[in-house]
Amino acid sequence: MTAPIAVTVDEVAPEVTYDLRRAVLRPGGGDVVWPGDEDPGTVHLAARDAAGRVVGVVRLSPAPCPWRADPAAPWQLRGMATDPEVRGSGAGRALVAAAVAAVVERGGDLVWCDARVTAAGFYERLGFTVVREPFDKPGIGPHVGMVLAPAER
Ligand SMILES: CC(C)(COP(=O)(O)OP(=O)(O)OC[C@H]1O[C@@H](n2cnc3c(N)ncnc32)[C@H](O)[C@@H]1OP(=O)(O)O)[C@@H](O)C(=O)NCCC(=O)NCCS
Repeated sequence: MTAPIAVTVDEVAPEVTYDLRRAVLRPGGGDVVWPGDEDPGTVHLAARDAAGRVVGVVRLSPAPCPWRADPAAPWQLRGMATDPEVRGSGAGRALVAAAVAAVVERGGDLVWCDARVTAAGFYERLGFTVVREPFDKPGIGPHVGMVLAPAER
């Protein structure tokens, strides 16, 4: 466990998230600008350390959940990444907390994500549940479907 660091999480323009997406999520190349990034309803969050450096990013957008038909206002969480230098120090937790709060603020009742199997334990610690068995995303690796209903926590 790394020592906790203080981060502030704020809504940012999409391009603020691209460097960390590239470094962490697409190190072998591939698009870091995704459909929907510029949609007015899409929310991009960045965590910054005390020096103002972006150490974590995530994106949220309203989107039907592939595994649950009942939620009235489902949101997809995507593009979650923290700087390897700060891993285990709470930046990811702070980002997901802010992401869930942002969804609730906008009337959302479910957060879902395609989680890398390697990150599923992280999401579970933050209250998400696996609802789909592992499936492969070509070029990226195995994923599981996960959901969190804020009102049920
Ligand atoms: C997954 C990721 C976002 C976690 O970020 P982080 O900044 O290390 O997260 P935190 O330090 O806030 O960790 C929160 C908790 O989850 C735990 N945790 C972190 N990563 C974990 C993992 N991969 N598996 C299991 N638990 C994990 C931490 O130990 C911590 O536990 P605690 O409650 O006992 O303190 C980060 O490792 C990452 O960017 N990974 C590569 C990209 C990736 O896989 N993104 C997700 C795509 S779906």
